[in-house]
Amino acid sequence: MAKSVSLTVGDNSYDFPVLGGSTGPDVVDIRKFYAETGMFTYDPGFTSTGSCESAITYIDGDKGMLLHRGYPIDDLAKNCNFEEVAYLLLNGELPNKEDKETFEHDITYHTMLHEQIHNFYSGFRRDAHPMAIMCGVVGAFSAFYHDSLDITNPDHRRISSYRLIAKMPTIAAWAYKYSLGQPFIYPRNDLGYAENFLYMMYATPCEDYEVNPTLARAMDRILILHADHEQNASTSTVRLAGSSGANPFACIAAGIASLWGPAHGGANEAVLNMLKEIGDVSRIDEYVKKAKDKNDPFRLMGFGHRVYKNYDPRATILSETCKEVLDELGVKDNPLLDIAVALEKLALEDEYFIEKKLYPNVDFYSGIIFQAMGIPVTMFTALFALARTTGWIAQWNEMIEDPQQKIGRPRQLFTGQTERPYLPLGKR
Ligand code: CMC
Repeated sequence: MAKSVSLTVGDNSYDFPVLGGSTGPDVVDIRKFYAETGMFTYDPGFTSTGSCESAITYIDGDKGMLLHRGYPIDDLAKNCNFEEVAYLLLNGELPNKEDKETFEHDITYHTMLHEQIHNFYSGFRRDAHPMAIMCGVVGAFSAFYHDSLDITNPDHRRISSYRLIAKMPTIAAWAYKYSLGQPFIYPRNDLGYAENFLYMMYATPCEDYEVNPTLARAMDRILILHADHEQNASTSTVRLAGSSGANPFACIAAGIASLWGPAHGGANEAVLNMLKEIGDVSRIDEYVKKAKDKNDPFRLMGFGHRVYKNYDPRATILSETCKEVLDELGVKDNPLLDIAVALEKLALEDEYFIEKKLYPNVDFYSGIIFQAMGIPVTMFTALFALARTTGWIAQWNEMIEDPQQKIGRPRQLFTGQTERPYLPLGKR
């Protein structure tokens, strides 16, 4: 029998259908709620609200499980490259050999930026935050790629998706080069996705540069781990922006803006700044106390998650990758890593963190890896944006193809002034 939920308001009773997905909690279908009851539901922060139907990514926060199209994240991170995961997110299946080669070829041949985009960079101050540059340059793409802006045309959508995924490493690496005052390095078609990014970051026209394969693999893995995470703030931003019919470049620029905040993608930068501020293992106690103090706004960055109430599976993989990278680079003593390890241990044993189910999240270790690779702190969130573009664009495509899709238009609980007569200037 079909399940439903009943609501009684005074003498009236209303029934709402309950819908079940392939796994995860059921949802109450309240699409007719306002029409039938005259009331809105109220859920700031969307803690109990499903905003869409999706078949891309599934998270079981209690088990610490993350699946893309059914595949566990650790299997994907260990066995695939980033391009295969991007293909999976976009198309629903892992590519066979031929599809993989075609996809990699197509992505590779879209990595160059329109030459006039150079001019865009020179409009920024040299000390501009890379996220500001990413937001601006990606938004500007809609002024450069007019031939792929018809969102009703599947070919246009595919080309825009490829352009975004392919060009993001170039945009990010150039933001870094611009901050240094070094010449931009063009992508190389003989390199893979993560390799190309490292090459464009560190090569100069003056000498040969060889990408370290261990670092390229670590970067590839980090990109996989950040590729998608269902309806988080930035993905929901992309969907909401796209629900009005805005072009994909504008939507992804909106996603980048949302990701920038320290509660979301900006946390990796915030973790490193926090570890530097703590400065020494002996001061960890003091900071844990601050994090627990209700009257202190300080939070342990890289801890806690809206959905995970268990270890973030991405953090587990990253802590292994972190060790591999530090070994490869011969880093024997890394004071920040020492602080991170001791902080993690202390927090995991502390009643406050246990009771609130606050575990390290993906951002806790990524910053240490980036730092060891020589990536500056301000680039950390840009790397997250680079990786998440694949998830954003897969979710955007899914939304456009959804026959139930409507413009996103939430309502409100109004608590402001009710109607009153206009006051002329002399009487205010
Ligand atoms: N340190 C100390 N206390 C915390 C922390 C923390 N990092 N995170 C949550 N709490 C406490 C919070 O004070 C609250 O306590 P109480 O119930 O007594 O008021 C309780 O735990 C629940 O927190 P919340 O803010 O209601 O939970 P939320 O789901 O709204 O927030 C979060 C999730 C990720 C924004 C939050 O845990 C946080 O600010 N963490 C630090 C920033 C961070 O690492 N962000 C990266 C998230 S993972 C990558 C991504 O998605 O971008």
